[in-house]
Amino acid sequence: MTLKIAVYPGSFDPITCGHLDIIKRSSKLFDKVIVAVLNNSQKKPMFSVSERVAFIKKCTKDIPNCEVMSFGGLLVDFVHEVGAQSVIRGLRAISDFEYEFQMALLNKKLAPDIETVFMVTNLNCLYISSSVVKEICRFGGNSEGLIPDEIINDIKDKIEKEC
Ligand code: PNS
Repeated sequence: MTLKIAVYPGSFDPITCGHLDIIKRSSKLFDKVIVAVLNNSQKKPMFSVSERVAFIKKCTKDIPNCEVMSFGGLLVDFVHEVGAQSVIRGLRAISDFEYEFQMALLNKKLAPDIETVFMVTNLNCLYISSSVVKEICRFGGNSEGLIPDEIINDIKDKIEKEC
């Protein structure tokens, strides 16, 4: 029997409660979910790839069928390499749709065997994004309910060190 494996890709700079909600829900639909952190030298992330991977590992330690990896290059190549069949993406609002639709169609053109599965965000996470979270943390705002509890202190420490 083939395992149903899904890849949940993203920048995760850093992981938010919205991301974690998608990971938890998708881990119930698939045999294995691989959270894939983009390692892209062209982007200037706040957190290094190893920090982002470590944050996600910390938040998902109780989800036995969740693995965390990083990837560079094309997503579809990574999906093939790990033997997955699906890509998961979360949708928050209509504003996400255009980009997600384009990405899903491009990935379909590159690899017709891979399906993109969209999961609608939890209503409580509708307004959360990594960029707003970073801004709130930078200016010392309360990030409870935005970033998973497990990593709030790690993120505060990192920002304090930088200032
Ligand atoms: O969290 P993000 O930044 O919206 O995630 C975007 C991501 C990582 C899914 C996307 O940039 C990606 O898949 N990059 C890898 C390069 C690739 O495959 N590009 C072609 C499809 S657009």
